[in-house]
Amino acid sequence: MIVTLDRLVLREFERHDWEAVHVYGSDPEVVRYLAWGPNTERDSRTFVQHAIGRQLDKNRRHWGLAIVRKADEQLIGGCGVYVSAPEHREGWIGYCLRRDAWGHGYATEVGAALLAIGFTELRLHRVSATCDPRNAASARVLEKIGMRREAHLREHLWQKGEWRDSVVFGMLEQEFRPPARS
Ligand SMILES: CC(C)(COP(=O)(O)OP(=O)(O)OC[C@H]1O[C@@H](n2cnc3c(N)ncnc32)[C@H](O)[C@@H]1OP(=O)(O)O)[C@@H](O)C(=O)NCCC(=O)NCCS
Repeated sequence: MIVTLDRLVLREFERHDWEAVHVYGSDPEVVRYLAWGPNTERDSRTFVQHAIGRQLDKNRRHWGLAIVRKADEQLIGGCGVYVSAPEHREGWIGYCLRRDAWGHGYATEVGAALLAIGFTELRLHRVSATCDPRNAASARVLEKIGMRREAHLREHLWQKGEWRDSVVFGMLEQEFRPPARS
């Protein structure tokens, strides 16, 4: 899959991407609210290998994509749609950017594209996303792309040595508005 956006391209991971993945995957600040990381080099290589392996899966459920900035062709992050329950047409989205790429509206561009993939390409009925309530930037992105804040789960995850709450956001297919084409 390849998706061309205004300033970004979302494309399949390739073997050589592991070094660019490692830039953000090994940054403790980037992974602070994530279930994984900080990555060792081996973790980053394994992540890319698994992502490539899934590309050949006939019943693919993990659509993990690299985020490439058009201006300099640099891989600046990763994102994805995960079809968690095909029988319920349910999926989840997520995204992660290199720290020096924060604050430019890239995640908002990516998030809107992930919803479009989920509802238009994968024909999902419901798309969800969770974030740690302390992750204000991510919550703001989910709000900006039109997802509804649906729940606050207390002590939902044992992560990085502590119980963490999760905020759940959701959108239904009838609420999805495809982005206007310029
Ligand atoms: C979360 C993340 C993807 C956001 O990426 P980004 O490209 O900087 O996001 P955008 O620029 O599109 O939008 C961020 C919004 O959050 C706001 N924001 C940023 N930091 C904030 C803070 N500490 N408190 C409140 N709002 C904040 C920004 O002002 C912006 O909103 P605005 O357009 O209304 O001004 C990025 O910070 C990241 O990769 N974090 C680490 C990985 C991660 O947490 N992923 C999400 C897991 S749920």
